[in-house]
Amino acid sequence: MEILESAAALQTRTETWRQQGRSIGLVPTMGALHEGHLQLVRRAAAENDVVVVSIFVNPTQFNNSEDFKLYPRTLESDAELLRGTGATVIFAPAVEQMYPQPAVLRFDFGPLERVMEGAKRPGHFNGVGIVVSKLFHMARPHRAYFGQKDWQQVAVVRQLVADLSFDLELISCPTIREEDGLAMSSRNRRLSPEARAVAPRLHEALQLTAEALRAGASPGDAQQQGTEWLRQFPEIELEYLEVADARTLEPAWAGPAPERQLVLCLAAWLGGVRLIDNVLVG
Ligand code: PAJ
Repeated sequence: MEILESAAALQTRTETWRQQGRSIGLVPTMGALHEGHLQLVRRAAAENDVVVVSIFVNPTQFNNSEDFKLYPRTLESDAELLRGTGATVIFAPAVEQMYPQPAVLRFDFGPLERVMEGAKRPGHFNGVGIVVSKLFHMARPHRAYFGQKDWQQVAVVRQLVADLSFDLELISCPTIREEDGLAMSSRNRRLSPEARAVAPRLHEALQLTAEALRAGASPGDAQQQGTEWLRQFPEIELEYLEVADARTLEPAWAGPAPERQLVLCLAAWLGGVRLIDNVLVG
């Protein structure tokens, strides 16, 4: 496993692999790796000849400079974790490698970014679109792996791939959770012990909402039940809990519509740390 820091070096490498007819898997990350990331890498290794794992805390997708500053940077232990997962190359560029000049291009993902993370974090998906496009050009993957933990991000990247005709297969992988249900996240390591103790309630709220839907509640009622239930935990400051169409992400108010797959998404603050999670229904 090799660590590359320059975009040119990565491009040379991937060009050679392509000429040799080797299939390339790409796993984009911001580092502070955990089992959720490692599962993506293992899957990529099982399905491709070579695997590029990018580790880059992308400044353009942070709409909160404090969050960017506090984002954990742990390249050495990340490299250690990746050993034995099948990663061929770690691409860990400095900001100047990715942004030799400030990006001025702007992505607009339409309705996908008027809801939830798009609405709450203005500019976030623009930054994701820019960095993911750059990584696609540099790594030239046949397959790119993303986690369903960030369901809306997968939808945005799917739009990006379709609109810009990226010649690759987008593969979305299930959310990996701690034993108590908390979705694994690099931000979990910033939780105080008290916040960590209450954090699994987020997933419980989603499950409760899902159960209400399965029992025949309308999306609006189910959403309200989940939201009300979370009110008993004063440490949790809920930003949103939405019931949406799993593909379009449009809010699902009317219902029940059993043939439609729904996604239940939430974002919440716990002691200064913002967490997101989602579950699928149907
Ligand atoms: P990051 O948060 O590091 O996540 C990298 C990838 O790992 C994403 O596709 C994310 O959905 C996936 N992932 C994170 N936690 C997971 C979990 N518990 N289970 C399964 N998959 C999980 O998402 C980003 O970075 C960035 O936006 C990026 C795509 C790298 C662009 O900068």
